Amino acid sequence: MFEGLRGYPAHGCVSAVMQLRPHMRRMLQSCRIVNLPLRWSEDELCEAVLATVRANGYASCYIRPLALRGYGQLGVDPTHCPVDMTVIVIEHGAHFGAEAAEKGIDMGTSSWRRMAPDTLPAMAKSAANYLNSQLVILEARANGFADGIALDAQGHVSEGSGANVFAVVDGVLHTPNIGSSILQGITRGCVVQLARDAGLEVREVTMPRELLYCADELFICGTAAEITPVRSLDRKQVGAGARGPVTTHLQAEFRALVTGAKPDRHGWLVRA
Ligand SMILES: Cc1ncc(COP(=O)(O)O)c(C=O)c1O
Repeated sequence: MFEGLRGYPAHGCVSAVMQLRPHMRRMLQSCRIVNLPLRWSEDELCEAVLATVRANGYASCYIRPLALRGYGQLGVDPTHCPVDMTVIVIEHGAHFGAEAAEKGIDMGTSSWRRMAPDTLPAMAKSAANYLNSQLVILEARANGFADGIALDAQGHVSEGSGANVFAVVDGVLHTPNIGSSILQGITRGCVVQLARDAGLEVREVTMPRELLYCADELFICGTAAEITPVRSLDRKQVGAGARGPVTTHLQAEFRALVTGAKPDRHGWLVRA
């Protein structure tokens, strides 16, 4: 089980960690889902992340807490393998490159589906799920796309290899609901909040693939991707083929909050 968090440059501290507690809560939930006994509390996990960020000194960083079964016995039953935990911090900039945030990326619908709900638990951020993500992004890149969008086992839109999907249709923000084998993204939650702050309607839906082709704007979001516009899907232009007004607004608000240009009104940042 793992997490992925981001630290942003901030005055008077090493870095400001985005949504620390929700990430650590999700890590505990992931462990609970797969019966991995973690012997640290939410507070201790938060403190471990902050201490590691401080010790490494990177203002702009990606943080990867990782809990795994260590060496115990060979075999499928993991019960007697000890649980180890590591926190990794690396220096980090823009995930898709600075240009992508402005111009958008080209994506393709993957031939790989997300895991069916009775196979692997999509809500758990488990390394096991990321073989599926790897297949999605490898196929997308081989086809000349920046990333892929996977459908769920029923053929509805699920998510990107490492990000959630949003479509703006007639001014309403649509995103797949948690029944569509998605990871319940923390950034997805921030986007919903920022959209509602702006008076936009947000619908969590079972999303037919073709809704994506009808979208005026499309974007993906995640800790690494932040908010990245999608300018084409399956070689079809999205909207006007450029970042649209809703995406632009949400991106600007998100940036202003994480860079400290605007007050952290939702209490999303924790100073390390
Ligand atoms: C499969 C998948 N979906 C969605 C997300 C977005 O989640 P978050 O916003 O919590 O980073 C990620 C990122 O970690 C992911 O790997």
